[in-house]
Amino acid sequence: MRRLAAYEDYALRLLADHGVRVARTYGLVELTPNQEYMLVTEFFEDARNLGDSQIDDVVIDEGLAMVRTFWDIGVAHRDIKPANLLVRDGHLQLVDVSGLEVRPSPWRQAVDLSNMLLVLALRTDPERVYARATKAFTPGEIAEACASAVGLTIPTELQAKLKADGRPLLDRFRQLAPPRDRISIQRWSAQRLVLTAQAAQQTGVGNDQAHASRVTGGVAQERATDSRGHLPVSLSSRRARDLASLPGLQST
Ligand SMILES: Nc1ncnc2c1ncn2[C@@H]1O[C@H](COP(=O)(O)OP(=O)(O)O)[C@@H](O)[C@H]1O
Ligand SMILES: [Mg+2]
Repeated sequence: MRRLAAYEDYALRLLADHGVRVARTYGLVELTPNQEYMLVTEFFEDARNLGDSQIDDVVIDEGLAMVRTFWDIGVAHRDIKPANLLVRDGHLQLVDVSGLEVRPSPWRQAVDLSNMLLVLALRTDPERVYARATKAFTPGEIAEACASAVGLTIPTELQAKLKADGRPLLDRFRQLAPPRDRISIQRWSAQRLVLTAQAAQQTGVGNDQAHASRVTGGVAQERATDSRGHLPVSLSSRRARDLASLPGLQST
């Protein structure tokens, strides 16, 4: 429990550091040693869940900018849905950051975008959201996001709202974005088994587990980074990009 609470505390601080609108965290309180811990955070008075709010272009842009920031700083929220976005004083606030993943696969980052597009379109319409999205993302990136959205990638609450809404929002986004093959959720396939074996050989098991798990992260995930839709972006170039994204770190 302590570790979970501490992780959420860290996630809030990390996001706040990068200008994401999250609740201010005051840190952990120990309730029962080694058993119960409580994270004390700011409470947003008079905030409403996005699902119950009227939204305008300011909120749409803030939602899209939020995902752009996730991409730029190398994190994924992994649970973008109406209940985890609040609107207060006409501005968007993010909650429930305990599932934040640092250095996620590009596929997970694409899923954050597809869910944000859907959440925003539920309160408005896909044409408007798509038009705003093209200011923060390239059409190719939006197409990747739409291609990543398959069944399980959409949180249950969001799926229920989409069903109740009835409009084919995802299909409409797919029509608006350039054509792109679906990116399937990664599964064990012959190709992935071969990749896994190769990665284990190249890196030595235990020597560079992170590298190996990145490679075994699956064809689908790596494909999500590739604008041409064929070759995976090399891991070393991703590492270089990650280093370049660290604020204040000068390369030597
Ligand atoms: N800082 C906050 N200020 C105001 N309301 C909040 C705050 N954090 C969460 N909520 C409300 O509580 C609900 C559940 O919180 P959340 O952190 O998403 O927990 P859960 O893990 O149960 O999903 C949210 O949907 C939101 O309506
Ligand atoms: Mg929640």
